[in-house]
Amino acid sequence: MKAIVNVDNNWGIGIGDKLLNHIPADMKFFKETTTGNTVVMGRATFMTFPGPRALPNRKNIVLTTDKSWNAPDVTVCHSVGELLDLLEGCDTDSVFVIGGSMVYEQLLPYCNTAYVTKVDSAKPADKFFPDLDKTDEWEIESEGEKSEHNGVEFRFVTYKRLKGGV
Ligand SMILES: NC(=O)c1ccc[n+]([C@@H]2O[C@H](COP(=O)([O-])OP(=O)(O)OC[C@H]3O[C@@H](n4cnc5c(N)ncnc54)[C@H](OP(=O)(O)O)[C@@H]3O)[C@@H](O)[C@H]2O)c1
Repeated sequence: MKAIVNVDNNWGIGIGDKLLNHIPADMKFFKETTTGNTVVMGRATFMTFPGPRALPNRKNIVLTTDKSWNAPDVTVCHSVGELLDLLEGCDTDSVFVIGGSMVYEQLLPYCNTAYVTKVDSAKPADKFFPDLDKTDEWEIESEGEKSEHNGVEFRFVTYKRLKGGV
């Protein structure tokens, strides 16, 4: 699996149910990278989508413990074990973990690549992604040029798992 995330300087990813940053080029990157593939998310993240509706042109898998919950065009899983069973036999390189913090935390051990959009800001946050610069399990494979949106700098960074994980 692969994680895709937008973080700030503190690896903050959200506050309440809100993203910290809205950068059109990052949204475009997210759309281009995940379209045609499978996206896995927690129910809280799904509920932040407009509608809330499934992301188009992707297989949407939502994790929830609520056995009665469902939504159109969504495959529901009630545990990580159920998710792994569902993905058995699939090309897991086409499965993207898209958040939020609870789901990143649990599924990062199953990821070998992380697409991290690093935004040069430090906003109040209460949801975080694990700091991949603080572990020897991950290293930067490639780093894009700095870009800017409304005075805020950001860059696309790809991390590869070196060791650990499941
Ligand atoms: N910056 C980014 O790239 C990015 C990306 C995505 C989200 N976000 C932000 O992240 C925040 C949301 O993250 P979050 O941690 O609050 O929520 P989340 O991870 O999106 O969803 C948490 C919910 O997922 C379900 N869940 C999680 N693990 C499960 C498991 N093992 N089995 C069954 N269900 C499971 C539970 O739903 P039930 O309560 O229904 O059981 C849980 O309450 C928001 O601020 C959002 O804006 C940021």
